[in-house]
Amino acid sequence: MNISKTILLSIIFAILLFNAGNNVLANNNDRQVVARFGADTVDVKSEGAPFTTCNDCVSIMTDTIDDLIGILMNSGVMASCNDLCSRLSNHYENIACMLTCVYFGLEEFSNLVLDADPDPIFMCEVIDVCPVKMTAAGNITNFDIVPSSGPVGTTFYANINYTITSEIGTGQIVANLYDTNNLGFGFYNLLVDTAPGDYYVSFPFQSQPSEMEPFNPGSFLISVGLCEGFCGSIHKYTIILSVVNDNFTISSNTTTNQIGHTIYDLSM
Ligand SMILES: *[C@@H]1O[C@H](CO)[C@@H](O)[C@H](O)[C@H]1NC(C)=O
Ligand SMILES: *[C@@H]1O[C@H](CO)[C@@H](O)[C@H](O)[C@H]1NC(C)=O
Ligand SMILES: *[C@@H]1O[C@H](CO)[C@@H](O)[C@H](O)[C@H]1NC(C)=O
Ligand SMILES: *[C@@H]1O[C@H](CO)[C@@H](O)[C@H](O)[C@H]1NC(C)=O
Repeated sequence: MNISKTILLSIIFAILLFNAGNNVLANNNDRQVVARFGADTVDVKSEGAPFTTCNDCVSIMTDTIDDLIGILMNSGVMASCNDLCSRLSNHYENIACMLTCVYFGLEEFSNLVLDADPDPIFMCEVIDVCPVKMTAAGNITNFDIVPSSGPVGTTFYANINYTITSEIGTGQIVANLYDTNNLGFGFYNLLVDTAPGDYYVSFPFQSQPSEMEPFNPGSFLISVGLCEGFCGSIHKYTIILSVVNDNFTISSNTTTNQIGHTIYDLSM
């Protein structure tokens, strides 16, 4: 508690300091790691924040959003960003919360966390930790599920080939599985500053029913996407570059992959 208060105070102090014109910017892989506050910027790196890379920021921001949802649902009206963010027990989340909350303002930030589509990539982009390339382009060129069938408990692999033709700033290659009730779960790799070229990823998933991954017998839709930004996000800086959908069916003791490739090329 004392530690996080100290950090918040030092962030606020840093904002005041930078407002006074002491505007030294850190550099991370040729990218400035700064957060903007109106016309002013604060150097995230020199604050000792751990999320100086886009990957770390998205990971911390994801946890921050998860924890803030609980806090906002249970605690009612907040007096300030400090009031809200100081309720997070993890001090890295604390910093992530302060940076984004001060950027958006308490009300808009609370809405962004609570809306149907909270987007950690978008939040890391607005505080200038993650790069944006609205010129990104690419295509999913091949998608297979291997093996094509097997008993419950088998580890299947969603193997995806994709081509990037114009660099991605911050994006995703995702594989989401949805059952007939539209309950879904999925996997993604974050793509940061990904140059043109041919890429391959293999997501393993075990067809073992669990609370988080209900592999009940039935038909599944697997949707694979390549995106600039967070696939499916309603927020700015998002482009769906390519989507491929497949069906597969899990019977009571075997899983059969009934391939029906439908390729939607959205890159135009
Ligand atoms: C994307 O990949 C699909 C499948 O290989 C292909 O049919 C389509 O022409 C490609 N689109 C572009 C824009 O390269
Ligand atoms: C997909 O990528 C893998 C690994 O680079 C490669 O071996 C395979 O031939 C590619 N498949 C297609 C259809 O491009
Ligand atoms: C498993 O599937 C096979 C073939 O569909 C079927 O003959 C068998 O009865 C099933 N076993 C169980 C335990 O459901
Ligand atoms: C998946 O299965 C449903 C129901 O059988 C069908 O309507 C849909 O077109 C299929 N989608 C794909 C991508 O094969």
